[in-house]
Amino acid sequence: MGKIILTGDRPTGKLHVGHYVGSLRRRVELQNSGEYEKIFIMIADAQALTDNADDPEKIRQNIIEVALDYLACGLDPEKSTLFIQSQVPELTELTFYYMNLVTVSRLQRNPTVKSEIQMRNFEASIPVGFFCYPISQASDITAFKATTVPVGEDQLPMLEQTKEIVRKFNSVYGETLVEPDILLPENEACLRLPGTDGKAKMSKSLGNCIYLSEEPAEIKKKVMSMFTDPDHIKIEDPGKLEGNTVFTYLDAFSRPEHFAEFLPDYANLDELKAHYQRGGLGDVKVKKFLNNVLQAELAPIQNRRKEYEKDIEYVYHILEEGSKAAREVAAKTLDEVKAAMKINYFEDKELIAAHVKRFQG
Ligand code: TRP
Repeated sequence: MGKIILTGDRPTGKLHVGHYVGSLRRRVELQNSGEYEKIFIMIADAQALTDNADDPEKIRQNIIEVALDYLACGLDPEKSTLFIQSQVPELTELTFYYMNLVTVSRLQRNPTVKSEIQMRNFEASIPVGFFCYPISQASDITAFKATTVPVGEDQLPMLEQTKEIVRKFNSVYGETLVEPDILLPENEACLRLPGTDGKAKMSKSLGNCIYLSEEPAEIKKKVMSMFTDPDHIKIEDPGKLEGNTVFTYLDAFSRPEHFAEFLPDYANLDELKAHYQRGGLGDVKVKKFLNNVLQAELAPIQNRRKEYEKDIEYVYHILEEGSKAAREVAAKTLDEVKAAMKINYFEDKELIAAHVKRFQG
């Protein structure tokens, strides 16, 4: 059997460079590798509603932003199926059956859910739908028989949960579902790209994100005010790399070609780092280099976005066609699930025949 990808994002805002190095860039490479039989990229609006029930308009407005970001990055509707979660109701039906295979205490132990509950001050009033979203995520993944789920590290607990549901389902009802593998970014910087202020979490409210569609002048401003080593005051001072956001971003984005083009005094990042640690290299020079690297990386993405922005109806058309195609696949899996659970009464000729016999003697 061929390899299948499913992954997605909650449409709660525009996508930023953290999404890009954490997953988007990889998805496009995987798409273009030709190694995958099918690729499904989902805009997880139903999941986003689990903690935004009172603000559906926010989700509604951001679906198109995420779709544009996807297309801008190079996801190609000819090669990947882009779809909207809520338009595939089979996913909700699967979730209802999977719920019986998971305990409340197991959900309470999910570290990502735990920290999200804290972040949102949900302790005393957790919406049931939010609490159950790891189960719904198992439906997203298994409905497409995904073998491979490229996501960020924060999604590890969801994959663990999914594997448990798959094993439980298959052992109770017979081999039906496929156990997926997570695919994490290979490098540490990409795994956890910090905000421009050095804080671990990028968030809109902290104003510490660089969005993929951010204006070049704004990107430059954010880079030039990035957090570095607070003890690196004079140029001669030796500088620290740990926790130095500018270098973390360079780890995630820079390639030797960038040095040849923008900073030919150094052959690669290791040489630049060594000079910084030795002393004698100022932050401004490093920041200017990072700005050049980011602008070079983001320019083609921004140009492609502008092209798609001219034809929004076409983007909605892509999502509509993708949702139809995704629905067909999910419906087939749901049929298999119901057959395995023996809740496909009307197709079950044996059951009907046996009951005819029971009641007609
Ligand atoms: N939880 C993911 C996020 O926060 C979105 C998501 C929903 C997802 N269902 C998924 C990711 C299935 C991978 C697979 O962005």
